[in-house]
Amino acid sequence: MSFLYHCALRCPHDKLPLQQSRAGLQCNAGHNFDIARQGYVNLLGPNDKRSRDPGDSKAMVAARRAFLQAGYYQPLANSMVRLLQGELEEDSVVVDAGCGDGYYTAELCHQLDALGRDKPAIVGFDISKWAMQLAARSQAATWMVASNRKIPLANHCADIVMSVFAFPHYVEFARILKPGGLLLLVEPGPEHLLELRTLVYDSLRAYRENSLRAAVTAGFSAAGSNNKIFTTKALGRGDVANLLTMTPHLYRAGPAGKQRVGKIDSLALTVDVRLSLLRA
Ligand SMILES: C[S@@+](CC[C@H](N)C(=O)[O-])C[C@H]1O[C@@H](n2cnc3c(N)ncnc32)[C@H](O)[C@@H]1O
Ligand SMILES: [Zn+2]
Repeated sequence: MSFLYHCALRCPHDKLPLQQSRAGLQCNAGHNFDIARQGYVNLLGPNDKRSRDPGDSKAMVAARRAFLQAGYYQPLANSMVRLLQGELEEDSVVVDAGCGDGYYTAELCHQLDALGRDKPAIVGFDISKWAMQLAARSQAATWMVASNRKIPLANHCADIVMSVFAFPHYVEFARILKPGGLLLLVEPGPEHLLELRTLVYDSLRAYRENSLRAAVTAGFSAAGSNNKIFTTKALGRGDVANLLTMTPHLYRAGPAGKQRVGKIDSLALTVDVRLSLLRA
């Protein structure tokens, strides 16, 4: 297969450019990276893993895919596309950092198609190989297993980075963005999934706002923000279970919380998200 956009990819061992070889990608020092049969490349460096199976597990990724495909976050995807649309040019490069199963990348491509607009070159990456196995079913992007902490991309190659609920690393984002490039950050707001959290926990933790101080220290300046709040259609039992599996709440829930959720047949949810635009 031909890797859609490989010119900005860098070897995780020595940061040398990667060229397409017969089996995959190769740097001039002879490091080789196979393209998995699913269509992604693993560019996690030897010290980039903090566990044997980093990132979201197979079950979490499958649950998130089922939940997102049911359309509950469609209004969020629409808002993101509206924000990005005006920023995109014909030759833009977009990076979806911590992209999960690639839902927002796919939405961006799908909606640009519907508008008759050219699609940008997109690189989607996630530290979870399970996420990549699903994401790479779509040919919308160049997909790689990689970490936010050490992104195997050239300096100043990207026009837009999006980070959706996904552990931003501002220093790395600033490094890969072109000067003046844009970071779209999507984070939970205070009311996010309140109905689920109220069931799961005996008492709710206080909301901690992201001050974005770390982003400013890394060289970003605020370029706008948008609060998006809406209520989903009611989730049935299966989708409540998917939602619980795809969030950290499942691990944090005690037996009483799990029991309360287990009794729920239907639950409409508040989605409360902060969309922040930051300029490099
Ligand atoms: C809550 S999910 C969001 C996924 C996707 N952006 C979405 O909204 O559908 C967080 C994702 O971050 C990934 N992740 C965790 N640590 C990461 C890291 N250091 N670098 C890249 N991805 C990471 C997880 O594997 C997971 O897929
Ligand atoms: Zn190399």
